[in-house]
Amino acid sequence: MADTKKLFIKTYGCQMNVYDSERMAESLGAGGYTQTDAVEDADMILLNTCHIREKAAEKIYSELGRFKGLKAENPDLKIGVAGCVAQAEGEEIMRRQPMVDLVVGPQTYHRLPDLMEKVEAGQKALDTDFPEEDKFDHLTTRPKADRGPTAFLTVQEGCDKFCAFCVVPYTRGAEVSRPVDRILTEARDLVERGVREITLLGQNVNAYHGAGVDGEYTLAKLIWALNDIDGLARIRFTTSHPNDMDDALIAAHGECEKLMPYLHLPVQSGSDRILKRMNRNHTAESYLRLIERIRAARPDILLSGDFIVGFPEETDADFADTMALIEEVRYGQAYSFKYSTRPGTPAAEREQVDPDVASERLQVMQALLTRQQREIQDEMIGKTVDVLFEKPGRLEGQMGGKSSHLHAVHVTGANVSRGDIRPVRITKSEPNSLGGEVVGG
Ligand code: SAH
Ligand code: SF4
Ligand code: F3S
Repeated sequence: MADTKKLFIKTYGCQMNVYDSERMAESLGAGGYTQTDAVEDADMILLNTCHIREKAAEKIYSELGRFKGLKAENPDLKIGVAGCVAQAEGEEIMRRQPMVDLVVGPQTYHRLPDLMEKVEAGQKALDTDFPEEDKFDHLTTRPKADRGPTAFLTVQEGCDKFCAFCVVPYTRGAEVSRPVDRILTEARDLVERGVREITLLGQNVNAYHGAGVDGEYTLAKLIWALNDIDGLARIRFTTSHPNDMDDALIAAHGECEKLMPYLHLPVQSGSDRILKRMNRNHTAESYLRLIERIRAARPDILLSGDFIVGFPEETDADFADTMALIEEVRYGQAYSFKYSTRPGTPAAEREQVDPDVASERLQVMQALLTRQQREIQDEMIGKTVDVLFEKPGRLEGQMGGKSSHLHAVHVTGANVSRGDIRPVRITKSEPNSLGGEVVGG
């Protein structure tokens, strides 16, 4: 009897890739593969890749190079590349790394069973179509195994916004929303398996407009429907575009008890000139007014953002505008990136900023963002927050989880289990986490 085959998956990029990797593992699981954490034991290695910045994409080739030895030792080893690099570079991957057996894009991984049949017969397989059919209708359903207390659930995919720097509209394709009943079924199934917090995913999740039995649903209406699921305790969503924050979604932040007080709302720049060149279709001022309305609905909301420094033609004055916007908003969490030139995007053709200048701006910006993050964390000391416990911490007797505001929180010596939600009084603030004591033991 043949042993079960072993699958090693490594995931890069955004949360949607994490979700996709889970679904691909399920699909390959139905084909006889069980997952392993040890790459040297693998019969199949799958890299689920990200194309957002040059470094992320180039890393894949060096990673593949490292598998040469493994393939020499085990000629039956299969190597696959999935995700956004697969979509963007397709055949180029097999040209540059001929040992790659499989290339599959983000919209075709429901075809993995057929593709794997080819691969296992010793052929190469490549599929980077944008098919008519919806992959979610064709995916092997999730097995009924228990799972951890938090889960991602893709509700919307793709992007029609075409920011001048971004590859996502090309790698993920046009915007598509999944139907409401499928999402609710998947959410109920997750809850039955132990999930207490669901993060709804989409490249533009707040542009969600899925079909329901009683008409089209916005993201706010979908959140209210999920709010009715017994056993589900927390709802989050990411990533949003400022132009798609409608009144109902803003109001939900104040009214919907399961919707957590955290919002990732990238602005990229605080300079109107640069925002225009980025094709963002909003101004710094309109973003600030939007933040005011969100804070009026939910005063304690923790805001998170994304920023790009060194976008083509960015001057010191533009950068100063971005710094001023950050000062005004006060972010609890933020991601900042040096602009990376992406082939095929409009900004790639423009006058580039000196990389040293961009690096310097990034340092200055990160110092401010880190300071804001730390100040907001420090303000939590003495407060009591609800924590969903997820896993043991680094130290003996420690348990870690996330607060409603998505702060990592750890407690020591408390009688709490994975999946519990308990009030914790915060006693200390560390660089990337908070510590505290469970109220009532
Ligand atoms: N859909 C999300 C973001 C997708 S990419 C949104 O619209 O917010 C995540 C972040 O990567 C972006 O918000 C942006 O800050 C950054 N990013 C995208 N393209 C980039 C590039 N070419 N160079 C540097 N950072 C980039
Ligand atoms: Fe990229 Fe802009 Fe679309 Fe976000 S909204 S995925 S940054 S094109
Ligand atoms: Fe990267 Fe694709 Fe996500 S480019 S950020 S993995 S959508």
